[in-house]
Amino acid sequence: MQNKVIELGGLIENANGVMVLTGAGMDTESNIPDFRSKDGLWGKLDPGTVANINNFYENYSLIHEFFSNGLKLLKDCKPHNGHYVLAELEKEGLISAVATQNISGLHALAGSNNIYELHGNIQTFHCNYCGQPASLTEFLQKNNCKHCSRMALRPDAVLFGEALPEDVWSKTLDKVQNSDILIVIGTSLEVYPVSMIPGLARGKTVYINDEIGRWVYEFDLTIEGKAKQVLEDLYTVLGI
Ligand code: APR
Repeated sequence: MQNKVIELGGLIENANGVMVLTGAGMDTESNIPDFRSKDGLWGKLDPGTVANINNFYENYSLIHEFFSNGLKLLKDCKPHNGHYVLAELEKEGLISAVATQNISGLHALAGSNNIYELHGNIQTFHCNYCGQPASLTEFLQKNNCKHCSRMALRPDAVLFGEALPEDVWSKTLDKVQNSDILIVIGTSLEVYPVSMIPGLARGKTVYINDEIGRWVYEFDLTIEGKAKQVLEDLYTVLGI
């Protein structure tokens, strides 16, 4: 066990408010590929065509295929112990909430309640043209919207070029600025505005990632390792 995990345990036990921010690296051990690792999705696909609002209609088939494949992949994916540890820490009152960039829904499946989905989710759907809600079946069948008849059904995930959900963003910032500790897990911090969050933290900042390379922010504590193992070790340290 790394001494740094023991140090993190001590920080959490003495903290008044701990906020967690996760990225795709939190889900890779649940067999969901991330985006910018060497085997990441953006090495095979161009985000500008499959996840960008600015060419939604001309690339609709690609966007539809990208999210349909994501839904198929998610069907067999389950939370790993790291997700369950975060849910347990919330239950014990040791962390107040998890803000996530992930649209997988695995934090909720593991039992976390206070979740801020900064990039939306892939479990609910709407029409990009008229905004009316749509069902999973209507989306998967690539139906036209039953309200405006346009072929524009999409998941409630945030696409590149779109603003984050305002209420989720402001609640996340409020939590981050009123917590003693911000723990950032499994994200390259390459995407704005989430990349700004560590710099807005009032308290100590911790970075847990399997690659501690170039990062845009000097963290107070950096722990190099796999999210699942580090969180299992943290669980042991906290003796829950
Ligand atoms: N444990 C710890 N870190 C991991 C693990 C793991 N098991 N697996 C991967 N990582 C690290 C990678 O080394 C990388 O630094 O997690 C980070 C994931 O970074 P990205 O792939 O860039 O994912 P993320 O930061 O969440 O991307 C942000 O970009 O493409 C958009 O909307 C998409 O929400 C996503 C956003």
